[in-house]
Amino acid sequence: MSDSQLRTMGQQFGRRSWAEPWKIKMVEPLRMVDREHRERALDEAGFNTFLLKSEDVYIDLLTDSGTSAMSDRQWAGMLLGDEAYAGSRNFYSLEEAVQKYYGYKHIIPTHQGRGAEHLISRAAIKPGQYIAGNMYFTTTRLHQELAGGIFVDVIIDEAHDPQNTHPFKGNVDLEKVEALVRREGAAKIAYISLAGTVNMAGGQPVSMANAKALRAFADKHGIKVYLDATRMVENAFFIQEREEGYANRSVAQILKEFCAYTDGAWMSAKKDSLVNIGGWLAVNDWTLFEELRNMVVVYEGLHTYGGLAGRDMEALAIGIVESVQDDHVRSRIGQVRYLGELLAHWGIPMVLPIGGHAIFLDARAFYRHLRQDQFPAQTLAAELYLDSGIRSMERGIASAGRDPKTGDHYYPKLELTRLTIPRRVYTQAHMDVVAESVRAAYEQRDKTRGLKMVYEPKYLRFFQARFERL
Ligand SMILES: Cc1ncc(COP(=O)(O)O)c(C=O)c1O
Repeated sequence: MSDSQLRTMGQQFGRRSWAEPWKIKMVEPLRMVDREHRERALDEAGFNTFLLKSEDVYIDLLTDSGTSAMSDRQWAGMLLGDEAYAGSRNFYSLEEAVQKYYGYKHIIPTHQGRGAEHLISRAAIKPGQYIAGNMYFTTTRLHQELAGGIFVDVIIDEAHDPQNTHPFKGNVDLEKVEALVRREGAAKIAYISLAGTVNMAGGQPVSMANAKALRAFADKHGIKVYLDATRMVENAFFIQEREEGYANRSVAQILKEFCAYTDGAWMSAKKDSLVNIGGWLAVNDWTLFEELRNMVVVYEGLHTYGGLAGRDMEALAIGIVESVQDDHVRSRIGQVRYLGELLAHWGIPMVLPIGGHAIFLDARAFYRHLRQDQFPAQTLAAELYLDSGIRSMERGIASAGRDPKTGDHYYPKLELTRLTIPRRVYTQAHMDVVAESVRAAYEQRDKTRGLKMVYEPKYLRFFQARFERL
C-alpha cells in the first residue's frame, strides 16, 4: 500500500489527529460469541437488547449510563469512603463539588437520576398541573405523570426532524411555552423542565441564549425552571464550540453560567460525572429544600447519603472535577463524532448534527417498508446484535410507551436506534468495528422483517418488553 493510501484518521477527516487525555492501566477482556450463539441469545431475550446477558455482548453500546471507566484517582477515592450513617465526610466532598461546579446552594444525594426525579416531581407538581419540557425523557416524564402532572413538549420543531442541522436542536420554543401559559394560566404550570443535550432528540444541546431567554420569560410569569443536568457538561462543550462569545470560556465556566439561569437541577451522575452509580438533587430555595430533605429520608436514605455509600460519593466528587476538564470533554465528544463522521460518509441515515453521547440511527429511513408499530428501531437493534454482537438500544415507539388517557401507543416522530458511547472505555478500533456492522445492517435493510410485541410491562415497557419476528 502506498503512503497516499495509508492515512491517519485525522488526515482522512481533513484535520490533525487527537488522542485521549489518558492511558490505560487495567483492561477487561472481551469475549466474542459466534452467530449461532447470538441468534439463541437474542431469541431468549425476546429480541430486546435490555434482556441480553452482558457476557453475550461484544461491544456494549446500550447506554452511557454507569458504564464509564473510573480514573485511578476515583478508585483511590473509593478507599477513602467514610461509611458513617450520618454526616459522612464524603457527603461534604460531594456537596462542595456540586456547589463549586454547578453553583446550586442546597444538595441532596440520591441513588441515581430517577431517585431525584421522583422527589422533585412529588414536591413541585400538584395533580392537574402542566410541566413544559424540551422533549420528554422516559423516567422524567413518568415521574411527572405519576405525581399527577401533564407533560407538554415545547422543544423547537427542528428537533423532531433527524435531518435538520440546527446547531441547538435542544432549544425550547418560547412561543410554545407562552401559548401554554396563555391557555392554562401561569399557576397551572408546575415548572419548566429543561434538559441539557436532549437525549431523545439525539443528544442535541440548548444554547445559552435560549436558557437566558427562558429565565426572563419564567421570571415574568413567576414560573420555576428546573434542569435535568445529566449531560450538561457535554451541552457546555457545544456552547463553547458553536455559540458566539463562548469560544474562550472554559467548559466549567459555561456550565456554571448555564445553571445560574435555573432554580435547581436533578442529576444522573452515571453519565457526565464518570461514576457507575449516583445522582443528586439541588435547589436554591430553602423551603423547597426542606421539603425534599424530608422526603429523601422516606424514599432514598438520610439526607447525607441518599442511597449512596460514602465511597460512591467520594468517587462522584472526584468525577465531577474530571468531567469538566476541557480536554476530557473534547476527546469524549470527539470519539462520538469519529463514529458519526464515518457513518455519515457512507450515507447511513442518522440524526444530525452528531450529538454528544451517542449516534442515533434513523430506523425509519433504514426500514421504509416497516410501519412504526412494527418497531423499526427495535428491529435495527436486534439486527446489529445478530451481525456483530454489538448492543444498542431502541429509542422510538417502544420507549415512548402509551398515552395514559387513550391507552394507544405514543407515536414519536423520531424512531431511532441509539449507539451510546461509554466514557473512556472503548478505542477508535472498536468504533471502526461498530461502523462496519452498521453498514452491513444497512446493506441488508430491504430483506429485514419487523417485530411484534408479545409481552408488555405496565411501566417503562422498553426495559422488559418481549418481541417476536413478524
Ligand atoms: C436525560 C436523562 N435524565 C434522567 C435519566 C435517569 O437517570 P438514572 O438512569 O440515573 O435513573 C437519564 C438516564 O438515562 C437520562 O438520560
